[in-house]
Amino acid sequence: MNGLYDSVGRRIHYLRVAVTDRCNFRCLYCMPSEGVKWMEHNDILRYEEILRIITAFASLGVDKVRITGGEPLIRKGIIGFLHKVTAIPGIKEVAVTTNGSMLEEYASLLKEAGVKRINVSLDTLDPERFKQITGHDVLYRVLAGIKKAQEIGLTPIKLNMVVMNGINSDEIADFAKLAINNPYQVRFIEYMPFALERKYLFAADKMKQQLLKAGFAKLIPEMSNHSPAQIYRFPQAQGSIGFITPISQHFCSSCNRIRLTPDGNLKPCLLSNQEYSLRERLRAGISDQKLLDTIKQVIWNKPKECDLKNGGKGKRGMHRIGG
Ligand code: GTP
Ligand code: 5AD
Ligand code: SF4
Repeated sequence: MNGLYDSVGRRIHYLRVAVTDRCNFRCLYCMPSEGVKWMEHNDILRYEEILRIITAFASLGVDKVRITGGEPLIRKGIIGFLHKVTAIPGIKEVAVTTNGSMLEEYASLLKEAGVKRINVSLDTLDPERFKQITGHDVLYRVLAGIKKAQEIGLTPIKLNMVVMNGINSDEIADFAKLAINNPYQVRFIEYMPFALERKYLFAADKMKQQLLKAGFAKLIPEMSNHSPAQIYRFPQAQGSIGFITPISQHFCSSCNRIRLTPDGNLKPCLLSNQEYSLRERLRAGISDQKLLDTIKQVIWNKPKECDLKNGGKGKRGMHRIGG
């Protein structure tokens, strides 16, 4: 069998790489309210180290890479790095998840670097709320960035809305309208209790009820292609909507991904605290063969299911994982 498989037969072909833990935003659901201490410069993988790891994964059958953070666009040299990632043999798709704050300036550079598409975090359409959620009054900049990405064809654009009970849960219908009038895939994400309390959880069923109440009666399900989102279309809509339900209906059995953290740990499951450090092994001069063997072993031991009780309760906040 070609490709990377774990012990329960899942093929892992999607690597998510968080290139930094730093971010210019302070999203409520991502960063702890007591503030964060950034990782030390020397603890962060250098670009050459990341490229070596991606190349190793690609030789084992990984063909999709998503660059995340923190906010990936704030890391110096990111565009030069992306040019190199998209040139790695075997990598067919390189995508970026961004908060959109710098997208207007970066969209064309991303496209030139070979990035195929972007996912943008957008949790509210109200400027005042945006400021409350992210700590910055720059909704207009994010919207301009999304527009620019659309204009230059960095598409299809996916918008990630983390739905939090009582904070933005009343905006679901407005976001659905956004997907009707624009060619975006709007994804409603169940909040995973990393930084806030469980009371902010808002299950996908409730989201669907809200849509029904607002008159969106006809949701037409669509096959989603190895994405964690269940996708729906509306008649005559330019875009679509999706629900990502890590809490109410986890999608572990079809999980196809593994993560690399900014400090060089492989994290086989977002909601489990299991990690394997590659950084020290790389810096101690690990051979290519040993690196491949280590990766295969980590993948083989990927947890069969997420650990909803303890996953996310470790020291690693979402900004240090990359979503
Ligand atoms: P594409 O399908 O390539 O568009 O991207 P994606 O949905 O994998 O990437 P994105 O960075 O936009 O992730 C969206 C959100 O889905 C993440 O931030 C998480 O909230 C959730 N998510 C993604 N992967 C996983 C996963 O493996 N487990 C869990 N529990 N949640 C995930
Ligand atoms: N729960 C759900 N999604 C989250 N993200 C960040 N923190 C959380 C959380 N606690 C999502 C954001 C971002 C993506 C990378 O991770 O929507 O788009
Ligand atoms: Fe930054 Fe993304 Fe975390 Fe918001 S969710 S603070 S944009 S890393």
